[in-house]
Amino acid sequence: MSETSYAVLGMFDSPDALMQAIPKVRATNLGTVEAYTPYPIHGIEEALGLRRSPLGGMVLVMGILGAITAFGFEYWISAIDYPIITGGKAANSWEAFIPIMFEVTVLFATFTAGLGMLLLLNKLPLFGHPVLSSKSITGITRDRYALALEAESDAFDSAAAARALQEAGAVEVEVLPAPERSPFLTSDFILRTLGGIFAACVVSGLAMFFGTKWFPLLPPMRHIEDQPRLNAQKASAFFKDGHGMQLPVPGTVARGYLPTATGTQEQAASLVNPLPRTKEVFTLGHKVYSNRCEVCHGALANGVGSLTAAYGGKPANLQAQQFRDYPDGEIYWAIVNGKNAMPSHAPYLTDQERWAVVHYVRALQRAQNAKDEDLKVVAP
Ligand code: HEC
Repeated sequence: MSETSYAVLGMFDSPDALMQAIPKVRATNLGTVEAYTPYPIHGIEEALGLRRSPLGGMVLVMGILGAITAFGFEYWISAIDYPIITGGKAANSWEAFIPIMFEVTVLFATFTAGLGMLLLLNKLPLFGHPVLSSKSITGITRDRYALALEAESDAFDSAAAARALQEAGAVEVEVLPAPERSPFLTSDFILRTLGGIFAACVVSGLAMFFGTKWFPLLPPMRHIEDQPRLNAQKASAFFKDGHGMQLPVPGTVARGYLPTATGTQEQAASLVNPLPRTKEVFTLGHKVYSNRCEVCHGALANGVGSLTAAYGGKPANLQAQQFRDYPDGEIYWAIVNGKNAMPSHAPYLTDQERWAVVHYVRALQRAQNAKDEDLKVVAP
């Protein structure tokens, strides 16, 4: 036959007749055998020799691939490209990688399930199965049972297929022409798709806008909307300038963040550390030092921190004689004002934390240059 056909449908009057015909038609090897029935028929999958869907396997493989991808990515970031110790964990801590591995596993698996089903198994963009446009479809959805021999190649012989179906007991046969594949990358298709997306955005945007405008809050909660209050970025009749948002009164200071009149570094030399050298103060100083200084100046304050290795800056070696001779006030000054490449730490350290870390730097300096007398046990 010259014209291409999608399949030949043979109609049967009872499920038994259909089941008996299946092995006979399959034996002819003329094409793929498919059955269309108004309701599920027990045992028909086995009779047709249908395999289980490959989707589960695809999802498994892609899920594992997702986990490996996430692990590789995290390992590369944390252990190779930017090995910064956080929270005292080793650079390669697989336990900490698990949440992201889990997320990426789910991501890969769900995308595989969705797209694999739609595009690979359900053959999008082919909308509508060709059998749906057959003459027999009204019978198939009611009280008749169809067996189809579907073309596997251009060599499909629809006359032979029709004969085979009749010999197997079909009361009627219908040849289905090959469907026209819906043209996919045409300008018409693309325009309509983009237009559809645009229309959906406009409609949902308007719906959100008017939905929240007209039905903002249900009656019992209205007072939240109605109470007098200042909204960020909104006008307000309460203040003279009409702005809802006001600048803080000049000179306002956040609690605990008193700016210090340090003057120049030389002038700051006379400042005296107001904190006593107690265990609590050193504990606080240690904490601040580990969180704020150690990346650059190193755990021993010798200027070799993990960040130094990564970006090659030159933080001061605080063990140098120059800095051991510094008065407390000059170290304090550097923390508050910053120095050259070192940024000011004033914005996020309270005054107490600044002085505590000065004590701690002193302790580090003394620990690295301990003398015999330092080892003497001091009587309580
Ligand atoms: C971003 C990296 C970085 C951090 C974090 C950092 N520093 Fe520095 N620090 C530097 C660099 C770089 C210098 C050298 C500046 C120069 O003299 O050019 C320096 C210099 C210093 C000096 C010497 C200042 C002087 O007078 O020469 C002191 C003291 C100091 N830092 C203390 C600290 C303390 C205490 C902390 C934590 C609160 C800290 N630094 C955090 C990079 C850093």
